[in-house]
Amino acid sequence: MQTLQLTNDVYWAGALNSTLRAFDIVFQTKFGSTYNSYLIQADKPTIIDGVHAKFKQEHLDKLQSLINLKDICYVVVNHTEMDHTGSLALLLKQATNAQVLSTKTAALFLKNILHSGFNGKVVEDGECVSLGNKQLQFIHAPFWHWPDTMFTYLQEDAILFSCDGFATHFCDERLFDDRVDDFSEDFRYYFEHIMGPFRKKILEALDKIKQLDIQMIAPSHGPILRTNPQKYIKAYKDWSTPKPSQSKKLILIFYVSIYGNTKKMAEAIAKGASTVSTEAKLVDAANACPEYMRCEIESADGLLFGSSTMNGDAIKPIWDMINILFSLNIKGKKCATFGTYGWSGEATKLMEDRLRGLKLNVVQPPLKIIFSPTEEILKKCSIYGYDFAKSLTSF
Ligand code: FEO
Repeated sequence: MQTLQLTNDVYWAGALNSTLRAFDIVFQTKFGSTYNSYLIQADKPTIIDGVHAKFKQEHLDKLQSLINLKDICYVVVNHTEMDHTGSLALLLKQATNAQVLSTKTAALFLKNILHSGFNGKVVEDGECVSLGNKQLQFIHAPFWHWPDTMFTYLQEDAILFSCDGFATHFCDERLFDDRVDDFSEDFRYYFEHIMGPFRKKILEALDKIKQLDIQMIAPSHGPILRTNPQKYIKAYKDWSTPKPSQSKKLILIFYVSIYGNTKKMAEAIAKGASTVSTEAKLVDAANACPEYMRCEIESADGLLFGSSTMNGDAIKPIWDMINILFSLNIKGKKCATFGTYGWSGEATKLMEDRLRGLKLNVVQPPLKIIFSPTEEILKKCSIYGYDFAKSLTSF
């Protein structure tokens, strides 16, 4: 596939990566992805974003099929992550008259990515830059999903170039949302995993673009959204808006148990934690899929993690559950750990350390029990659960 025309003067000149199966190592890309780069054929020709370094020559060839690279006046860097700037050094080598437009943070990041001087101009939030017969407006959107990010709005064509915002890891060379196969699940997956931790920032930037007449959203990955673009904006708004608080506080108690002893602890803790104002829900991590727990974890008021110790460590299913937290909005959420052990008992402390590293709020010390709990110990577990539940209503 070569290039694709979006409007009279705007072209897609990006790259398709249909075989990619994981993005940034950890995010699944069942249908590959695309790196979208655009050319605006205005009086002052402008490139919006670039592609991964693997595709830099292909990118250059596509641009050269549309324009003499020496004629490019601006290269807009909406965001500096290397899937969009991997091609920048090569492009700037050829496009010797181009000036890089970016936020101040992006300019700083670029210095450490390019390791060479470049002709750059920092654009402020709301600033406009004339392309002669067209006008660009820049809207800062920090933490969509990096601090450097901005959107670029092409006024005459009513196109919002939103970089990672409203993007999807979904490779289909037909590219327009009305031509490609159903990508709604992948659109949601992208939001949950990449934008999910930044919901407050999402709402702030959505507020800035609400007055714009947007006829098309041209993101940096996946389908170009030209069929009712407001539908996608509304989806981001709905997914980012805090849900009304539940009448009862919810505590999720994750556990993994080899011989049933940590499970007994979990049940006793749940009993103690179930009070008039709290609901405690047990989850056997060995039989639960972390992906399906994402929403519940985010909406829970408190999280407890239990694991027995095996070879000086917690057991894999509980790590799988904890590992998903990095991509969730969970900073400051109250938590604690528990578990049984035979002789060394490192699991509870290791889990606690990881939770602290993820900036959760550990509200009580680990509860660890040697081998199997007695009735008396189970009472202690129940009190532990009660204390945790009480911590949710205190500050
Ligand atoms: Fe598609 Fe944050 O890079």
